[in-house]
Amino acid sequence: MDAWLGSLGMSLKCFSVVKKVLEDTYSEIPDDEGNRDRMIALAIEQISETYLNMSKTGAGPDFRDPVNRFAYVYAYVPVHAHWVSELISWSQDAKDVFEKDKVRIACIGGGPGSDLVGILKYLDERGGRPPSIFCEIADGCELWKHTWSDLAFSLDLPVRLSTDYIIQRVGDTDAWRHPVQFEKSDILSMSFFVSEIAHLGEPAWDYVGAVFEKMKPGAVLLFNDNQNAMYYGKVDEIARSKGLEVLLEGKGDRRVYDRNEKSDELSEFSKKFGRKSKLTGDVSWRVMRKPLMGADGAVSADP
Ligand SMILES: C[S@@+](CC[C@H](N)C(=O)[O-])C[C@H]1O[C@@H](n2cnc3c(N)ncnc32)[C@H](O)[C@@H]1O
Repeated sequence: MDAWLGSLGMSLKCFSVVKKVLEDTYSEIPDDEGNRDRMIALAIEQISETYLNMSKTGAGPDFRDPVNRFAYVYAYVPVHAHWVSELISWSQDAKDVFEKDKVRIACIGGGPGSDLVGILKYLDERGGRPPSIFCEIADGCELWKHTWSDLAFSLDLPVRLSTDYIIQRVGDTDAWRHPVQFEKSDILSMSFFVSEIAHLGEPAWDYVGAVFEKMKPGAVLLFNDNQNAMYYGKVDEIARSKGLEVLLEGKGDRRVYDRNEKSDELSEFSKKFGRKSKLTGDVSWRVMRKPLMGADGAVSADP
């Protein structure tokens, strides 16, 4: 692996990163070890139930609760991060974005840091000199900020990465109160975010539309979510109305096919919680792009 991420000597694999964060933050969950483990095990169970029924019941987990955040990081961050990295590796257009010297990224609904870990994993595996990265993480839950900074701390990130955490709560009338720079982003991610805001109806679709509207010509969008037409169908419809072109699309079973990803790195936690981190999912994915405009104002797909 490249020296640029390596001052901890750890390779940038999703399960290793998450293991480090869990080890560093486990003691922050209140109560003695027995109760703490019971609370986390219950939270993993409840979050899984919530996600199973979310298309019917609406809202996702309450991430203001530190136990829920810990449970989410354990159960979902490794696989979601891996799938972001995989999606980039499937798309030449997405890979091309990272050939620039400087890349601006926006991770929408990226509070826990999974999207950015996935991007860093892609760069780590690609090798060579990484670009300087400026990343905006936008999310409605302010408390993920701690999780993200714990992640960043465990990664011992290079100075060439700078991040900004912006609170945008979809559904609040002042969601756009904090200024963002999405219109400057070269690449944007929406990983398992749309399914979480869909229950809000119009405000959710207005928000997604506003993000697509802001994308600059040539900017690339990475989309991963549950395979449900309620989510990807609506995203496709909005994308079409905002003139985005689909570069890659698919749906179906996804797993972590990467022999360098060792889910048993989390075995000390799976023994405690009686449940393993998620490794599979029924997923839909897209890579889309805002077309470039030619000098005559005509749309051109060429970069
Ligand atoms: C399933 S998590 C996905 C996180 C990350 N992108 C991933 O793939 O692991 C959904 C994210 O949406 C955020 N979220 C939920 N409701 C929201 C809202 N109304 N406005 C903004 N963010 C929201 C949550 O805080 C959470 O970070």
